[in-house]
Amino acid sequence: MDGIKVALFGIGNCASALVQGVQYYKDAKNNGGIVGLSHPDFAGYHVRDIKFVAAFDVTDRKVGADLAGAIFAEPNNVIHFAEVPKTGVKVLRGPLLDGVDDNLRTLVRISPAPEVDVVKALKNSGAEIGISLLPGSAQQATSFYANACLEAGCAFINGTPVSIASDPEWGKKFKERKLPLVGDDIQDQMGSTVLHRSILQLLVARGVHVDKSYQLDVGGGAESLDSHYRGRMRKREVKTAAISQDLPYEAPMVAGSSDYVNFLNNGRESYFYITGKQFGGAPITIDIRMEVTDGPNAGQVLMDAIRGSKLALTREIGGSLESISAYGFKKPPVPTTMHQAERWVEEFLLGKKRL
Ligand SMILES: NC(=O)c1ccc[n+]([C@@H]2O[C@H](COP(=O)([O-])OP(=O)(O)OC[C@H]3O[C@@H](n4cnc5c(N)ncnc54)[C@H](O)[C@@H]3O)[C@@H](O)[C@H]2O)c1
Repeated sequence: MDGIKVALFGIGNCASALVQGVQYYKDAKNNGGIVGLSHPDFAGYHVRDIKFVAAFDVTDRKVGADLAGAIFAEPNNVIHFAEVPKTGVKVLRGPLLDGVDDNLRTLVRISPAPEVDVVKALKNSGAEIGISLLPGSAQQATSFYANACLEAGCAFINGTPVSIASDPEWGKKFKERKLPLVGDDIQDQMGSTVLHRSILQLLVARGVHVDKSYQLDVGGGAESLDSHYRGRMRKREVKTAAISQDLPYEAPMVAGSSDYVNFLNNGRESYFYITGKQFGGAPITIDIRMEVTDGPNAGQVLMDAIRGSKLALTREIGGSLESISAYGFKKPPVPTTMHQAERWVEEFLLGKKRL
């Protein structure tokens, strides 16, 4: 099979949006005006070159189902925007480890199917790239799949906030195997982090001194339940560090996942508050609310990360990819400003920047 062969770990809302997105944008042309997609072509590949060859989950409604059906199985509640034909890829039962805690068990039942040998399944599928879209607190499970990718000879993209690409030890292991590593924690197409960072950058560029700022958000997907109960501090740490890097001085900042509101479904509402001083010390206050849908917000970034990783594979580059990670993820191995990250990606695509 031609194209970029991808394995998915965790068939939740983000995986659903990604699989739907490949179908939805398969005929997108590079002449602009495409709603929601900046790059039909990226790194020499079209969106339709992305092929899903393996999928792993642990819950009874998803394991054993064709990927095209599993992406809509409960508790997934992402919007249904594309009809995905049967893929012929059956969702396999991965090891549970710390993937589902007591809170998530109120939404799902664990599949009684026996665990598969993940490394063998990856090798049999011909997967070149594995993506972790597991719950954000699944530290052991994400590490397990990262290791399985190493053993099976696949690149690894970590969509979760667990430290993998930002951990030099993992970077070293992937470098030794000449396998690309990208992550950690997707920075959405238009999510709270990217909006907050953009406003802070604008204020700094316009000479405004930022005194303090917070960002609170609530969501209704399974991931919001997980990040509210298990991953609260990890998420707060990652999001606060991500927004703080755009201020050239220290100021009190807080950004985090604040609550789980089940009737929001896959929606997310974010509240931003910034105070500062402008010309003559005059006060300025910014108070904004944004509403988005979580799963699709990750789609474009994941598509670019997949195609960037494939380019690195063809160039036989291993280890943490600094450019793609800083551009598309909140906790990259080398944090930088958004503009610098975009420049790095352009240089990487042209072959001027190695990683
Ligand atoms: N836009 C976004 O939604 C966004 C942005 C930034 C980061 N992320 C991160 O992406 C990840 C996925 O988010 P989501 O909303 O799709 O989550 P989700 O809860 O909808 O999906 C997680 C999936 O992983 C499965 N799973 C749990 N344990 C497993 C295991 N051991 N093996 C295989 N599968 C297992 C669950 O059954 C579920 O299908 C999260 O870590 C989240 O923090 C998402």
